[in-house]
Amino acid sequence: MKVLVTGGAGFIGSHVVDQLVAAGHDVAVIDNLSTGVRSYVNPKASFHEISIGDKAVADIFAKEKPDAVCHLAAQINVTESVKDPAFDAMTNIIGTINLLQAAVNSGVKKFIFSSTGGAIYGEPKVLPADESTVPEPMSPYGTSKLATEEYIKLYARNHPLHYVILRYSNVFGPRQVPHGECGVCAVLTDLMLKGKQPTLYGFGEPIRDYVYVGDVARANVLALERGSNTTVNISNGKATTVNEIFDALDKVIGFNQEPIRKPLRAGEVEKIICANDKAKKELGWAPTVGLLEGLQNTIDHMRA
Ligand SMILES: NC(=O)c1ccc[n+]([C@@H]2O[C@H](COP(=O)([O-])OP(=O)(O)OC[C@H]3O[C@@H](n4cnc5c(N)ncnc54)[C@H](O)[C@@H]3O)[C@@H](O)[C@H]2O)c1
Repeated sequence: MKVLVTGGAGFIGSHVVDQLVAAGHDVAVIDNLSTGVRSYVNPKASFHEISIGDKAVADIFAKEKPDAVCHLAAQINVTESVKDPAFDAMTNIIGTINLLQAAVNSGVKKFIFSSTGGAIYGEPKVLPADESTVPEPMSPYGTSKLATEEYIKLYARNHPLHYVILRYSNVFGPRQVPHGECGVCAVLTDLMLKGKQPTLYGFGEPIRDYVYVGDVARANVLALERGSNTTVNISNGKATTVNEIFDALDKVIGFNQEPIRKPLRAGEVEKIICANDKAKKELGWAPTVGLLEGLQNTIDHMRA
């Protein structure tokens, strides 16, 4: 199958490209390299350096003629989305509309969207949150992902386009950018390997659900063949505090220092765990890599 991957130079997108190539698919990548890394793009994929919001994206769709799109390119930073919600919406909502327009005009049959379980549900009363939980995002980022989901459903109603919306919990693993506010595992690993004191926001107490990047990439590959017009959580379904991540890394790295503890930042939720039963049923997907194994892979990658 010919698959176009947006954000294919990024953390998760580059793993999606690798797994698609390994499965024998023909892959084209669109990425503006704003946070992505060119060398992460599998050499067997064709590469187009362009923004998803650029009208010339239509020419790439016309040339590559993809059967399916895995759409991962996005502004992903919750804190940045609070500071500049218009930029977040421009990239995430308007950029996706531009892609959807190009996709339907060039005959794409399936659109697989990387949404968020970690930021779309807000602070649900019942945990783990399944897909029937009413989304009440706490940040512009979560809201732009929700609006984008609705545009995708709209295009699927009006065109012969099928979609799978994948709502990831907190993704971690090799190639995650270890700075900024995103990706607590990568940020902590990087600082602790350098012997620098990390800051644990929410005093290390926020509860998250950490899912390994290789498992998330596999969900994208499975969604090419399975799932039609459906929304599924891709998660581990297990609660882990930031303090527990710190302690696990401390044991492996031998950091032997106390972290700095500060209050939660604007837009961040205190507690989220996502149920993954629907992904098992509809995609035949289940997580295979646990937290400790995934953290070890992350440490090994950073050391290398
Ligand atoms: N990392 C997580 O925990 C997590 C959780 C839920 C959902 N997601 C979603 O998964 C997707 C991938 O996230 P990631 O963690 O790999 O982030 P990332 O920043 O590593 O990847 C995003 C990629 O998109 C590219 N990009 C950004 N804006 C672009 C634009 N306007 N045009 C073209 N390319 C652009 C970047 O250069 C980068 O390569 C995103 O849609 C994100 O919202 C991530």
